[in-house]
Amino acid sequence: MSNVVVMGAQWGDEGKGKIVDLLTRKCDVIVRFQGGNNAGHTVLVGDKQYILHLIPSGILHPGKKCLIGNGVVLDPAVFCREVETLRDKDVDVSPARLMISRKAHVIMPYHKALDVARECHKTNESKIGTTGRGIGPCYEDKMSRIGIRAADLAMPELLRAKIEAALLEKNALLAGLYGGEAMTVDAVFDEVMAVAPRVVPHLADVTAEIEAAWAAGQHVMFEGAQGTHLDIDHGTYPFVTSSNTVSGNAAAGSGIAPTGLDRIVAIVKAYTTRVGAGPFPTEQMNEAGDYLQQKGHEFGATTGRKRRCGWLDAVVLREAVRLNGPTDIALTKLDVLSGLKELQICTAYEYQGGTITVAPQEQNGMAHVTPVYETMPGWDDDITGCTTWESLPAPTRAYIARIEELTGVRVSLVSVGPERDQTISRG
Ligand code: GTP
Repeated sequence: MSNVVVMGAQWGDEGKGKIVDLLTRKCDVIVRFQGGNNAGHTVLVGDKQYILHLIPSGILHPGKKCLIGNGVVLDPAVFCREVETLRDKDVDVSPARLMISRKAHVIMPYHKALDVARECHKTNESKIGTTGRGIGPCYEDKMSRIGIRAADLAMPELLRAKIEAALLEKNALLAGLYGGEAMTVDAVFDEVMAVAPRVVPHLADVTAEIEAAWAAGQHVMFEGAQGTHLDIDHGTYPFVTSSNTVSGNAAAGSGIAPTGLDRIVAIVKAYTTRVGAGPFPTEQMNEAGDYLQQKGHEFGATTGRKRRCGWLDAVVLREAVRLNGPTDIALTKLDVLSGLKELQICTAYEYQGGTITVAPQEQNGMAHVTPVYETMPGWDDDITGCTTWESLPAPTRAYIARIEELTGVRVSLVSVGPERDQTISRG
């Protein structure tokens, strides 16, 4: 296997964890390139459970190197907590195998405070369902050129001066506009410096690390978080995350040229889910939606809230294909569809009096489309024991073939259950 990007093709929660775990086995280095501690994988190894929000799950594979790229926003306290939890379970988290780009931006206490204060002041309709972890405000500061970068954690004087400058504005918002408490430079500085010495040894030149891996003939995996339609530019704005989740950002967010990306695997769930607010054309607020929600155990990983569920949307998938250029698709949770008499696939939208086959680009345009469905026969058979293409029932194979036709992309991996061996590889 060569260098591979793994990204979600829908609204996140496509079941990337399992596919990432499978592909990690064939890689030497795993890189995160966007987002922050809003990703989340629960990984079971033997009888030990690990919950990782920031550090790639590749850390659980001895000998693999994990890199946190410049495109990630890093909460130093969360990083230290995850490192300590892993160390307590005898995982090697030494700086030699866990590195952070010096250019990654740092989530500061005022970012978290602002995130929460802002969301509290929004009306219910305008809440975007932020996780309150300061990720959006941290990216804002990066773009405003007032952000604090990981390298600054090793330079206390610079760090203090930057905090002082940032707080002028932040306090005007926190205490002025939102009526909360102002933060002092000392308190913020002390809070960050309490953890900085444990982060600094992990700082590295991530570009150089990837180059060194390539020079040694090693393979690198770029692990995306969230999903394509949560992308800050291309997603269902404003109900999106604050970074680019598309495959192209694997290069920019880790400091390499796009020519270094050989394979792009789009993770597609066999139906569609969405957490929180935002348009979702194929949502089924009925028996079919409940069936998918219950059979697929579709609960938010962080909040425990039920995920919204609906039919597969090929318009959403085709858009993901245009934006990511996947070489192949890994189709997950296909077993969840077993037992449904008929399956619907949305192939187009009715919108403003016409039929469109690509997503509208106006703000919230997706909220005003009517899906056009085609119906396919379902299957009753339990497919969780299928290990070959041939052993899948004919209607299941037809469903996969139709996805390939509608997207123009080959389905190379089919997941029929949560376990590692419940995967059909088509080579
Ligand atoms: P994301 O990075 O957000 O995609 O995280 P994730 O991979 O943890 O996805 P999610 O939070 O949706 O959790 C996926 C859950 O589905 C986990 O409990 C997996 O064990 C399970 N799972 C993964 N693949 C399959 C599958 O093919 N069938 C079934 N039934 N469960 C699966």
